[in-house]
Amino acid sequence: MHVGASSRATCGACHFKGGGGDGVKHGDLDSSLIKPDHGLDVHMDAKGLNFSCTKCHTSNGHQIEGRFYSMPATKNHKLAMPMDNPSRIACESCHGLHPHNNTPKLNDHTARVACETCHVPVFAKKKPTLVWWDWSTAGKFKEDHKFIVKKDKLGKVSYHTKKGDLGWAKNVVPEYNWFNGVVTHVLAKDTIDDSRPVRMTILHGDRNDPKSRITPFKMLRGKQVYDAGNKTLVVPKLFGPKGSGAYWKDFDWQKSVAAGQEAAGYQFSGKVGFIETEYLRPVAHMIAPKEEALSCASCHSRDGRLKKLAGFYMPGRDRSINIDRIGWLSCLALLVLVGLHGAVRFITSKGRK
Ligand code: HEC
Ligand code: HEC
Ligand code: HEC
Ligand code: HEC
Ligand code: HEC
Repeated sequence: MHVGASSRATCGACHFKGGGGDGVKHGDLDSSLIKPDHGLDVHMDAKGLNFSCTKCHTSNGHQIEGRFYSMPATKNHKLAMPMDNPSRIACESCHGLHPHNNTPKLNDHTARVACETCHVPVFAKKKPTLVWWDWSTAGKFKEDHKFIVKKDKLGKVSYHTKKGDLGWAKNVVPEYNWFNGVVTHVLAKDTIDDSRPVRMTILHGDRNDPKSRITPFKMLRGKQVYDAGNKTLVVPKLFGPKGSGAYWKDFDWQKSVAAGQEAAGYQFSGKVGFIETEYLRPVAHMIAPKEEALSCASCHSRDGRLKKLAGFYMPGRDRSINIDRIGWLSCLALLVLVGLHGAVRFITSKGRK
């Protein structure tokens, strides 16, 4: 119906509403980016650089460049690191690896800390994003058997009979992980350990992998139905006519999981339970003005943002009691020696004229 260059709104028609609504899936991609200001996103700023999505996401024969999945939209899985991807998608493609002239120490970080880690201090700045989805509480009704729908302070639905409890947040601080650009997922046939929350996205990379950098993520936690007998995740049937097992008509998890697993061709033990799950999604948009980038102390301090990332030494965050002791002892020794030296000079100077 229309031929023309794509805009933030055209790409956003799908990507802003992933997961079923504005800002549900991503916290860094929502309809506030149709007309953002400088504070929301320095590149897409409608009165400034006014980048469209395709300014960064260049395409090759309609294959949009990007990464993050082991089954990506592009044919060859590419990493965004400059050494193995010449396309324009990475920050470095425009800025290079050493964009900081004022504070050169920052450039020493770019091989180990992703640009977004410092340049997206918080996301979901204008619209809330979904951070908690508890399916186990779904299926409660009012006395007259109508749906219950509650809203929270942010004006978002916090309980719905069809969906359970929903938690929303604004100005979210990302979670940080080592990441080399490859994600794999827990699949429907995989056996899970149901004694603790299941991490559904398995991030690859660690400190010792030279391709890994500390990268920011949005965390979505929740509780979902699973097969408590076979210990697998399941495909529940949600939509469909009454009596078909569709949860949103029959409100019976047992029937919904049986129907869903059968349609998908998976086993079902007949025993349902609820398991807590965690899903991580990389954050790459809502780049803040440079004045708001993370300061040294936001990481290099005891309670800094990276306090959970163990296994490597960071000045200011980590300490060795013994090295600290040696340090203070040498200060003390220095003081004593200086005192002695002074005293000796004072005494020997007395005899002289
Ligand atoms: C009709 C809906 C729709 C529209 C419009 C759309 N996309 Fe997508 N996009 C998708 C879906 C679905 C996926 C996931 C499919 C996949 O990864 O293979 C996706 C994946 C992506 C990815 C991730 C690819 C990867 O390999 O990780 C990027 C980046 C992307 N789209 C950017 C864009 C841009 C830029 C535009 C506008 C020019 C756009 N999309 C328009 C639906 C859409
Ligand atoms: C300033 C450059 C820039 C602009 C503008 C931009 N993106 Fe991105 N986008 C990135 C980078 C960098 C990544 C991280 C992926 C990578 O490194 O390849 C990314 C990742 C993505 C992903 C994958 C996210 C995921 O969870 O896997 C999608 C989808 C996407 N962008 C869509 C969009 C849409 C839609 C727009 C326009 C509203 C847009 N981008 C504008 C730079 C940009
Ligand atoms: C398509 C090219 C392009 C890409 C890709 C790109 N930028 Fe930029 N960026 C620019 C331009 C142009 C400017 C404005 C001129 C300048 O400050 O260098 C800018 C400005 C900036 C600024 C200064 C903003 C301010 O306060 O005025 C920061 C910070 C920044 N970019 C970070 C990033 C990060 C982080 C990424 C990756 C997510 C990225 N850029 C990806 C082109 C790009
Ligand atoms: C360790 C944190 C950190 C990392 C990693 C980081 N930056 Fe920065 N960046 C900052 C801070 C803080 C400033 C503002 C102070 C300054 O420029 O010295 C800044 C400023 C900038 C500017 C504006 C420079 C100017 O002089 O106008 C750009 C552009 C930029 N960064 C891009 C990037 C890109 C691209 C990457 C990844 C290759 C990156 N940054 C990685 C913290 C970081
Ligand atoms: C996003 C978090 C973050 C910020 C912000 C940050 N750093 Fe770092 N810094 C790190 C990490 C992570 C390492 C360790 C990297 C490694 O060893 O793998 C590090 C290492 C260092 C080191 C020891 C290695 C070296 O390069 O000499 C110094 C010194 C340092 N940072 C200084 C600074 C200064 C100064 C600033 C502010 C201008 C700053 N950092 C901002 C995360 C950060």
